[in-house]
Amino acid sequence: MIVAIDGPAASGKSTAAIGVAKALNITHFDTGSMYRAVTHGLISNQISFKDTKSIKDFLESLKLRFSNSKKGTGLILNDNNVTDFIRSNTISENVSEVSAIKIVRDFMVKIQRQMASDTDCILEGRDIGTVVFPNADFKFFMTADEKSRAERRLIELVRSGDRNASELDSVLDDLKVRDHKDSTRNHAPLIKAKDALVIDTTYLTINEVIDKIVNTVNQKRTLY
Ligand code: DC
Repeated sequence: MIVAIDGPAASGKSTAAIGVAKALNITHFDTGSMYRAVTHGLISNQISFKDTKSIKDFLESLKLRFSNSKKGTGLILNDNNVTDFIRSNTISENVSEVSAIKIVRDFMVKIQRQMASDTDCILEGRDIGTVVFPNADFKFFMTADEKSRAERRLIELVRSGDRNASELDSVLDDLKVRDHKDSTRNHAPLIKAKDALVIDTTYLTINEVIDKIVNTVNQKRTLY
């Protein structure tokens, strides 16, 4: 069984997907963190985002896997734990550019399909229901108004020490820039799959969002 969740930045996908995975006892894959890890790898190896040949070589030698520990799911890139690095401002500022590169997308789609091939899972991202798994058993598209998304993102950034609480306007601007880039790129832009169920999370608690998804899945799950 494949459950796809797409939606813009800070719409609540990750928190919901983690809760749903737990409730349904299925595997969770955060595909955004995979694009973040590649961005981290390119920057730390000083590979230009325009240097297609070096990006191709980098991808061919790439080893990327999720790890599970008491602290939660982590990401291991070429034997290095990059979980903490991939949420930094530098990565957030560059990840849209990297995720717009066709060879990067083709590579990611391939490994995401492999990862999901032998397990019931929930994948969250921007193109899961449209490109990676157009035949997913369940598709959800999560939205929330821009201000609420910026407020949620600011709380995370204040917690991690990256921003201070007065920076809502700049966080909102960053979010708008990233949404625009993700929605207007040539390859697999962020769009709602025609058959996805829209969940507007602006006025919902996280538990309400999780329940909505879990109930939708459970109503039909007996068929799978
Ligand atoms: O979910 P996130 O904010 O961590 O994702 C980081 C970036 O990765 C996002 O700006 C767009 C890109 N992304 C993508 O292009 N396709 C996906 N399936 C997931 C993320």
